[in-house]
Amino acid sequence: MPSKPLQHAEYDDIADEYAASKQLPFRTVVEAPTLFSLVGDVQGLAVLDLPCGDGTYSRALARRGAASVQGIDLSSAMIERARQAERQAPLGISYRVGDAADLGIVGAFDLILASYLFNYAQTRAQLLVFARVVYANLKPGGRLVGMNDNPRTSLDRYGSYAAYGFSREVERPRREGARVRYSFFRPNGTSFGFDNFWLAPQTYEEVFAEAGLAGFRFVDPLAASPEGEDWSGFLRDCPITGLAAHRPG
Ligand SMILES: C[S@@+](CC[C@H](N)C(=O)[O-])C[C@H]1O[C@@H](n2cnc3c(N)ncnc32)[C@H](O)[C@@H]1O
Repeated sequence: MPSKPLQHAEYDDIADEYAASKQLPFRTVVEAPTLFSLVGDVQGLAVLDLPCGDGTYSRALARRGAASVQGIDLSSAMIERARQAERQAPLGISYRVGDAADLGIVGAFDLILASYLFNYAQTRAQLLVFARVVYANLKPGGRLVGMNDNPRTSLDRYGSYAAYGFSREVERPRREGARVRYSFFRPNGTSFGFDNFWLAPQTYEEVFAEAGLAGFRFVDPLAASPEGEDWSGFLRDCPITGLAAHRPG
């Protein structure tokens, strides 16, 4: 259990809409295939999905043969959605509310999936806390894979991705801790969104090494695009990125 009471989480207000956004083509064509290619074979693995959100990827990895999946998220509304899906179609996944910054050791995992966790760190110190939590919960030889806001993009790649259903703006000047605002468009012309934070790519590299995680790298996304669709414009200097590292064996 968390050692302090949890605050109202940003995603409590947008849980349904965020979950619906998992059906947007940029997620199904780019995000999910990139993540699955990083994940590889999960048969028999103990997996921690941190943060699990509504459990979209927890369920996918359970279906792909993971031996166990535990999902943890700061937002109780997201966890309730995940639990509801588990009640409707049980896959043996356990979900709970928790703060990655205050998690301690919850298990010894072969694989930690961190899909959009690290971009919530506003400072180097916060990123180090997240990276240390990952290290502490991996078995020696265990792997970290995930997705992230892409801190490597050039400044002119912020702005509207209207064709893909969202926009992404960064506070200027883009310095450590600068706010990155994602807004998703609703059919009625309004939008909802959330904030991430920018830290330099080099900060990520230094922090993961400092936490004891080896081989940290950002991984350029791929597109599993339907025939006839050209995703090269989205993939060029892509707003999202894969990432990977491992705990030395
Ligand atoms: C963009 S969503 C991604 C959810 C899921 N990984 C996915 O890819 O669908 C980000 C999630 O991170 C959660 N989150 C933010 N800060 C967190 C923290 N410190 N500990 C645990 N979860 C956190 C939010 O509640 C939200 O559900």
